[in-house]
Amino acid sequence: MFWFSWYSLSLFTPIVFTTPSSVSLLSLGIIDDGDDESFLASVLVENSSLGFSRNIFISLTCRFVSNISSSSIVFPLSICVYNLLIRFKISLWGGVLVALDIRGFRFSLDGISIRRCGIEDIGGVIGVNRRTLPENYSTSLFLAMLRRFRDIFFVAVDISQDSIIGYCMNKLEYNTKSFFAAKKVTKGHVFSIGVLHEYRRRGIASALMVVSLKHMFMLGASEIFLEVRVSNTPAQNLYNKFGFEVVMRVPRYYADGEDAYVMAVPRERIESLIDELYLRLRELGVLEE
Ligand code: COA
Repeated sequence: MFWFSWYSLSLFTPIVFTTPSSVSLLSLGIIDDGDDESFLASVLVENSSLGFSRNIFISLTCRFVSNISSSSIVFPLSICVYNLLIRFKISLWGGVLVALDIRGFRFSLDGISIRRCGIEDIGGVIGVNRRTLPENYSTSLFLAMLRRFRDIFFVAVDISQDSIIGYCMNKLEYNTKSFFAAKKVTKGHVFSIGVLHEYRRRGIASALMVVSLKHMFMLGASEIFLEVRVSNTPAQNLYNKFGFEVVMRVPRYYADGEDAYVMAVPRERIESLIDELYLRLRELGVLEE
């Protein structure tokens, strides 16, 4: 009967772990060795806000009653180890395997939140734009984009400072020629994206892209495109990770005469990737919706 309780609790643990809690109960059981009852618990501590590349595992095995025979503890202990392995495998799945499977995405978003841009954020967005890009649009363009495409305009916020540290401004273009088929489609356009220098390489632009693409798909986009300077390797690397490919080169696209690549990706190529990353970001508590 008591072994059964171990088994049944073991079965429950994956459900417990899928919640973004900071402490999860790994397993819990009571052993009856004939003389005494012992209580064994294995606890896993996970700091979800650090992101799945930095999960912390602490396994505590507590024996509250000590005088039980070594043989009676072997089985529950092996269940604990087994559960740890399951959890580790889930973490591998969430961290390492997913990273491999979905092209190496890593998020380190402690203290960062992603939410829709509000009118009060426009000053912060313009500040980030001025510091990150030579394409400095007018305030009225930002306001017009906010008015027209509020549902797909996102900001990244440093929670401790309550300041905007990144943004992704998007638009939808209806009934335009597809890059991938001979038909007219709705396209999502990543119009402008930037992350302050001191916050880079933490997955913030990736997270902004995930949220933006997810919502553009929800609004009917069947492909996504953007323009990028031919010299902008960091941004091209970012887009390559999302499966974008160069579909066109536009000579002298930028005001200073530099050419642009137009990069695009069809929805079917990345939708499952976006869904998976979006779910993970939501579990990590990064998304404020
Ligand atoms: N060099 C090479 N690759 C880079 C890079 C760099 N400096 N910065 C980002 N990347 C690529 C990498 O493949 C990276 O994955 P990795 O860290 O696992 O190697 C991937 O992009 C995702 O990086 P992420 O941390 O999500 O991006 P970020 O938050 O650092 O922001 C930009 C990336 C491009 C938005 C940021 O560098 C920026 O604001 N640049 C100036 C504005 C700009 O160029 N906007 C795009 C205009 S089209």
